[in-house]
Amino acid sequence: MKQTFGKTDLETTKIVYGCMGGAGAFGAQEEQDSIDALRGAYDVGINFFDTAEAYGNGYSEQLLNRALGDKRDEIVISSKVGAQNLAPDDIMAACDRSLKNLGTDRIDLYMLHWPNRNVALEDSIGALKTLKEQGKIRWYGVSNFGSDDLDDAMALGDIAVDQLPYHLFFRAIEFEVQPKCAAAGVPIMCYSSLMQGLLAGKYRSLQDFPVDRARTRMFDHRKWADVVHKEEGAEEAGQELLDALWQMTDQTGLSMEELAVGWLKSRDAVGGVIVGTRNGEQSRGLKKMLDIDLSHDILASLDQASDRLKWELGADIDMWGKGRTR
Ligand SMILES: NC(=O)c1ccc[n+]([C@@H]2O[C@H](COP(=O)([O-])OP(=O)(O)OC[C@H]3O[C@@H](n4cnc5c(N)ncnc54)[C@H](OP(=O)(O)O)[C@@H]3O)[C@@H](O)[C@H]2O)c1
Repeated sequence: MKQTFGKTDLETTKIVYGCMGGAGAFGAQEEQDSIDALRGAYDVGINFFDTAEAYGNGYSEQLLNRALGDKRDEIVISSKVGAQNLAPDDIMAACDRSLKNLGTDRIDLYMLHWPNRNVALEDSIGALKTLKEQGKIRWYGVSNFGSDDLDDAMALGDIAVDQLPYHLFFRAIEFEVQPKCAAAGVPIMCYSSLMQGLLAGKYRSLQDFPVDRARTRMFDHRKWADVVHKEEGAEEAGQELLDALWQMTDQTGLSMEELAVGWLKSRDAVGGVIVGTRNGEQSRGLKKMLDIDLSHDILASLDQASDRLKWELGADIDMWGKGRTR
């Protein structure tokens, strides 16, 4: 089933396929698996594909073209310009590169991937407006913009989306930016919906999570080599949530992915729930994500189970470290 995406004329599925893992973000990846994953997502009915120039330095966009170039008119493509390229000339050049990588003449939704404090936002949004007038992009928006940044962006242009980290292990957007998006009619695309696999029902303990993925603020920097933040994390509350989720899978007969994605689908202002997979088999599992619709009681239990962690991690919307967003 498709929906109209916010104020745009894009007709999209609420489940969005995330192309980052296909470019090797989660370790060695066979190209054929990435192609099968993309085709598998299309085959189960997903029509919305999210990529970025940053994913494999354009390789993810090229893969999307290789896998689904022949379906271009049937799919909606979102891509992002990297924070280092937000000066107007750089945005124009980045967009041309992305169009070439994607083998298309337009990007449906084009986002500023992260804020860049060294470039005037007015100039970046001005470039996005020019790209829209030229027909190279159809709509534009932002990603990783907190409440104040989003205010600034909305004052400058017609922002069609804010792509943000949002899942049961990270509810920081609920404090400020999500209510703002709801009031302004700006849809949220949630990323890391499965917390990079922690919500895919594979791990009983946080300690089993791969060290290169245990990088969010939930993890204690003293224990994990790959974290960049300097916080003590909230692992006790995180483990409590993981235990509660396992218990709920037993009680409801639903998989952890269904609980995680079903919960996101029900949240205010959520216009897209991005999920990434590594191969065709995982993508076929996305069929049930399109269909899942959780009961009020299950949703309430999920709210309650994740509430302690939400408060311990607080309102900074940056999942990886504090102070970069506002
Ligand atoms: N705007 C931004 O700054 C930003 C940042 C991050 C991500 N994103 C977007 O969000 C997308 C997804 O987020 P994410 O990459 O963080 O990952 P995610 O969707 O939270 O998790 C992906 C992982 O979940 C596991 N998985 C998925 N389906 C599964 C299944 N059926 N069975 C078992 N395991 C399954 C796989 O783990 P294994 O690898 O262990 O198999 C996969 O790599 C990205 O591709 C990108 O489009 C945006």
